[in-house]
Amino acid sequence: MNTEPNESQMDVWSEWLLHTRFGNDHGQEQILRAAIDPIADRVLDGARLSAGMTLVDIGTGDGLIAFRAVDAIGPSLRVILTDISAPLLRHAEALAIQRNVQSQCRFIECSASALKDVDDASIDAVTTRAVLAYVPDKVQALRECRRVLKPGGRLSIGEPILRDDAFEAASLKQLVDAQPPGLEDRFFSLLSRWKGAQFPDTEEKIASNPITNFSERDLVRFALDVGFTDIHMEFHVNVLPSTVHSWEVFLGSSPHPWAPSLSRILAERFSTEERELFETIFRPRVEARQFVTADRIAYLTARKPSS
Ligand SMILES: C[S@@+](CC[C@H](N)C(=O)[O-])C[C@H]1O[C@@H](n2cnc3c(N)ncnc32)[C@H](O)[C@@H]1O
Repeated sequence: MNTEPNESQMDVWSEWLLHTRFGNDHGQEQILRAAIDPIADRVLDGARLSAGMTLVDIGTGDGLIAFRAVDAIGPSLRVILTDISAPLLRHAEALAIQRNVQSQCRFIECSASALKDVDDASIDAVTTRAVLAYVPDKVQALRECRRVLKPGGRLSIGEPILRDDAFEAASLKQLVDAQPPGLEDRFFSLLSRWKGAQFPDTEEKIASNPITNFSERDLVRFALDVGFTDIHMEFHVNVLPSTVHSWEVFLGSSPHPWAPSLSRILAERFSTEERELFETIFRPRVEARQFVTADRIAYLTARKPSS
């Protein structure tokens, strides 16, 4: 059964999560999912779920964390899957039916900043992965997590930290802008325009964009400010050779839901000559696996005070 939304039902979130993050390539999707599974498991471990509990997974997407939780705990677990994306929620619901776990699941379309229809102090654990970055008011989102948790309830977050990618884009832009006219380096110039299309590339843009205006340490402070206790944060950085070595996948993918794919950037912002030059320079490097990717993830766990 095809559980995916059709084209007219897609939004930016479903389009990215179900297609662009792996360049619409099934093989790359398998590689990506295998890399994300341990991250999801780590978030789940932080929630310390047990039989009979109720979990809220905020910004559930295709239910990655929620369904792993059901698999781990079994039929006594209740899960509330929330998301602002109606197509993704419908997709997750279809997956729940396919897995025959729909009676354990509730689906709520709402923002992380206002967990609609979730009662105060009714939840044992809250998980969220790769969602807070897109929420402008992260403190309000954490306040909502605290509101719905029972006293002693646990919060477990796994959040990519993207600000270093933006700092790199900003440094590149500065380097390119400082080159004297006539002596521009084409490689750095193309690289800078590509990165600048996917990440904020000035100090002002970095400071005003929700995906880059916070650090892992800010997450700790936010959790403290809204009244969590037993806060533990681990920041993991992994710099590895890129798993993408097909030019088509490289063109079709993007690093986060708000970033256009490289093919769109080339089509919309580069001339024909620039596109050809871009491919001449970058394609051999992609195919020779010369690119590296850096994943920076903050894992935060916390507890609502017992009284
Ligand atoms: C990168 S995806 C992560 C999906 C899922 N948590 C996972 O681990 O695969 C981001 C998700 O956050 C959702 N989202 C974005 N902004 C949100 C908001 N303000 N409130 C709730 N969900 C949001 C998107 O619809 C999408 O499902």
